[in-house]
Formats: sequence, C-alpha cells, structure tokens
Amino acid sequence: MFLSFAPMEGITGAGFRRVHRRMFPEADQYYAPFIAPDAGGRFKQSHLRALLPDNNRGISLVPQILANSASAFLGAAETLAELGYTEVNLNAGCPSGTVVAKHKGAGMLADLDTLAAFLDEVFDRCPLEISIKTRMGLNSTDEFPRILAIYQRYPVKELIVHARDRVGMYRSEPDLGGFAEALRACRCPICYNGNVFTGHDLDALAARFPALQRVMLGRGAVANPALFRQLKGGRALQREELREFHGQLLEEALAEGLAPQYAMARMKELWFYFSRLFPGSEKTMKAVYKARELSDYRDATARLFDEAIFDSLRGFDG
Ligand SMILES: Cc1cc2nc3c(=O)[nH]c(=O)nc-3n(C[C@H](O)[C@H](O)[C@H](O)COP(=O)(O)O)c2cc1C
Repeated sequence: MFLSFAPMEGITGAGFRRVHRRMFPEADQYYAPFIAPDAGGRFKQSHLRALLPDNNRGISLVPQILANSASAFLGAAETLAELGYTEVNLNAGCPSGTVVAKHKGAGMLADLDTLAAFLDEVFDRCPLEISIKTRMGLNSTDEFPRILAIYQRYPVKELIVHARDRVGMYRSEPDLGGFAEALRACRCPICYNGNVFTGHDLDALAARFPALQRVMLGRGAVANPALFRQLKGGRALQREELREFHGQLLEEALAEGLAPQYAMARMKELWFYFSRLFPGSEKTMKAVYKARELSDYRDATARLFDEAIFDSLRGFDG
C-alpha cells in the first residue's frame, strides 16, 4: 500500500517534515499544507521558504494550492514549476467557515458549473500535473457522484478522497459505501483518506477494498509518528523515539528563528495529538500547556517522558 502523509496546516511544515523523514522514513510521500495565493498567484514568503527544495531534501513532496480563481492557481503553479515541482495538489476539502464562504476549499463544491469552468482553465494551462484532494460533498456525501463526474473530465494525476462532507468537519463517520462507488467509477488513481489510525483500520480498509492502492494518513500519523513504519510491519513507537522526535521538533522551531513562546505554541499544538499516548497524565500535561518559559516547558515535558505511562498503541482515536 502506498502511504502518504496528509497536509496539515500549522503542523506538517518543513521542519516537521525534515525531522519526521529523518527519524521515520517509511512514509512514501508528503503533501505540504496549502498555500493561498492572491489573484496574481503570489503567496507568503514563509510558505515559499517551506517549499524550497533545499528545505525538503530527500522528501517526495507535493505542494497544495487553495484558490478558486484560475489566475491565482496558475500564477502559483508557475512559481512551483520554477522550484522544480512536477505536481501540484488542489485543495477542494478545507471545511473552515471563512474559506468555504469565499468558495474555496470545500466551498468549491457548492457550484459545480463554476468548479468545471475553473478546472477547464487550469487543466488547459497548468505547467504541472494536477492532483485533487476533495471532500465528498458540501452538505452530503450523496453529492459525490455528480462531483466525480466533473473530475472525470480531466487527466487528474490522483484523486484523494477525504470520505466526508464538509458538514462532517473532522468528526462524522467516513462514508465507506460512497467511497466504494467512487472507487468503482473513478478512472484515475484514487487515494482514500479519513480516520486511519491503526493497523486494524488499514487492514479493514484493505479487506473491504482489495483494489485500493493508496491511503493518506493525517492525525493518526501526528499522534504516532511511527505509524507508517507500524503499518508496513515494523515495530511500534518507542517512548525514547517520541522524546527524540519532540526534542528535534523543538530545536527545529528554535533554529528557524521562532521566539521561544511561538516555538512552544507550535509544540503545544502537537501535544493535542501526542497526549493520547500518555493515559492518566492529565496533571503533567497541564504543566506542559501552562509553561510560559522554555525552561518550564522543558522540565514538564521531561517529566512526562521520564515518568508517565506511555502506550503507543492508543494513538489518535477521533
Ligand atoms: C489541524 C489540521 C490541519 C489541516 N490542514 C490541511 C491542509 O492544509 N490541506 C488539506 O488538504 N487538508 C488539511 N487537513 C485535513 C487533513 O489533511 C486530512 O484530510 C484529515 O485530517 C482527515 O484525515 P485523518 O483522519 O487521517 O486525520 C487538516 C486537518 C487538520 C486536523
């Protein structure tokens, strides 16, 4: 099974990818969190830096664009082509209210004629191959056959299906029945995404969909960075590996020039996921979240790694 690391804004940036790749090289591919270009295709310097080949050595990386205007998409794609990328991913899945209100992300699924006009232009003029990461609908996954019929008009490099509608955010049960129909109908390579957190989850998918060859992992792989290794038959995450992973991520953040409070804020986002592996450690977790000085943060996390119960099989559970 080809296993890719999902794009996760605020989490799987360049520093995270470098450390993850170094310590857990089993992921087959990474998708970068979205860049959001302006009408001329320009995007933030920090996003550009995160995509520079020098900052992603040895990593098979696909950049992602969040845009609903062809000029914005094509302008950004031009820059990505200059950086040496051969594929770009379109975000048709982001469920955030402000994004959807602008008819971007999952908001692109609201009006299929507009979506088709956008795809006509970008597939005609884009210098890169285009893959699409999509929700199965805006208000219902029942919308997907009509959405898929639009995608089928184009030479889509890969269709990554997050098997929920936008309303389901990250909580609803993935619609496996709807995905089965999509898998049957889809003529381009298709990748499943949504709630694969354990070997059991992957085995169940593979048993239900023998033709499925590609799966994307998000939250499960953040909570348990060894998940790719585990799913490929390797050993479970060790406490000392997570200590090292955490330490290297913190050092990366500081080396990027982030002030300690911002570096800690970034790490605290990760603790939302890592904390699942430390059952019964609420008190020490509180000290981690409350730390304002780097030294307090280091002390609290060291206490967790030294003393807390660690259970890597718990992982993320939705
Ligand atoms: C914090 C966070 C940030 C995300 N950022 C992005 C993003 O930049 N682009 C995107 O296509 N999906 C994004 N996603 C969605 C994930 O890529 C993925 O589709 C989703 O988490 C479902 O997969 P999972 O159940 O394996 O986590 C994000 C999800 C989360 C929780």
